[in-house]
Amino acid sequence: MKAIVYHGPNAKSLDEVAKPAIVEPGDALVRITHTTICGTDLHILKGDVPSCTPGRILGHEGVGVIEQTGSAVTSFKVGDYVLISCITSCGRCENCRRGMYSHCASGGWMLGNSIDGTQAEYVRIPHADTSLYPVPAGIDEEALVMLSDILPTGFECGVLNGKIAPGSTVAIVGAGPIGLACLLTAQFYSPAAIFMIDIDDKRLATARRFGATHLVNSSAVDAAAVIAALTEGRGVDTAVEAVGIPVTFELCQDLVAAGGAIANIGVHGVKADLHLERLWSHNVTITTRLVDTASTSMLLKTVAAKTLDPAPLITHRFALEDAMDAYDIFTRAAETGALKVIITP
Ligand SMILES: NC(=O)c1ccc[n+]([C@@H]2O[C@H](COP(=O)([O-])OP(=O)(O)OC[C@H]3O[C@@H](n4cnc5c(N)ncnc54)[C@H](O)[C@@H]3O)[C@@H](O)[C@H]2O)c1
Ligand SMILES: [Zn+2]
Ligand SMILES: [Zn+2]
Repeated sequence: MKAIVYHGPNAKSLDEVAKPAIVEPGDALVRITHTTICGTDLHILKGDVPSCTPGRILGHEGVGVIEQTGSAVTSFKVGDYVLISCITSCGRCENCRRGMYSHCASGGWMLGNSIDGTQAEYVRIPHADTSLYPVPAGIDEEALVMLSDILPTGFECGVLNGKIAPGSTVAIVGAGPIGLACLLTAQFYSPAAIFMIDIDDKRLATARRFGATHLVNSSAVDAAAVIAALTEGRGVDTAVEAVGIPVTFELCQDLVAAGGAIANIGVHGVKADLHLERLWSHNVTITTRLVDTASTSMLLKTVAAKTLDPAPLITHRFALEDAMDAYDIFTRAAETGALKVIITP
């Protein structure tokens, strides 16, 4: 089969590789119908993720059809349409039993990291009963790919951890797919204001269409001063970091109001300063989280009910044969306007 294989920092190619097979009784083999590229795949290609070693098939998002099941799989059968969660979970270990699937003792973020991923014609999914979701009839399959990772990530790491509440003020730093997913799901809670901060005016314009109340280009203005002026000097109740670099985590510390929350989503490759000399007295909460995908079933229902429409996040479509072009377009997002690119084997 064809697959996108990581060959070490800055090296990837579309290769002919062996089709995966069932290994454990809980495995399912899924024929991929749609997959996509994540900002985290670009982190891997930069060499930021040492757990992903050369030879690995990339990708942790996708939908597909069950091709084969192991003897212990009871919730799915051959031919079922499924959503693949970016987090693999056994459902039984201590961390799974408290809903922290990202730290499952025999799972977590494995796909496209410690085991072969979804940017391929087929993928082996361990713990299939608890790591796949049935696809409701009539749902837009491409839009569903946004539920593998980015919507649960924006919602769990940003909205829930940031305790976004009715009437509250929110700043989201980073208007990439993750920041936009946070923006979309923040609106479940009717905050009074959502300030979107980025250095790319195209992405900020998208954020306006997605419901941002204020746009701040932090390369053109002092974002902290603008937000202080717009909040009567208080700052925001929730500052979400959705970029993954020190300067944006530090900006969040300048934006948060007393009693507020800084919710970090970004994957950080290097250390960032924490200004405790100022924040110690501000009663702030700082959270970090690897997405657990504990909210996936709930988000699926909101997509099925059309309360949440992730389809506008899709900007480009490619066949798997053209996956190198898909990576090129996605990597040059500032020029190409790419958000999520759908890849179809
Ligand atoms: N915690 C998790 O479980 C989890 C899951 C998925 C992704 N992530 C991470 O979330 C982050 C965002 O993902 P994405 O796919 O949206 O990434 P992305 O690169 O597409 O988007 C980042 C955005 O930040 C903007 N930006 C860059 N520098 C900036 C600056 N100095 N000030 C303001 N904005 C700036 C860019 O213009 C871009 O729009 C990444 O670090 C990704 O790895 C975390
Ligand atoms: Zn991802
Ligand atoms: Zn587990």
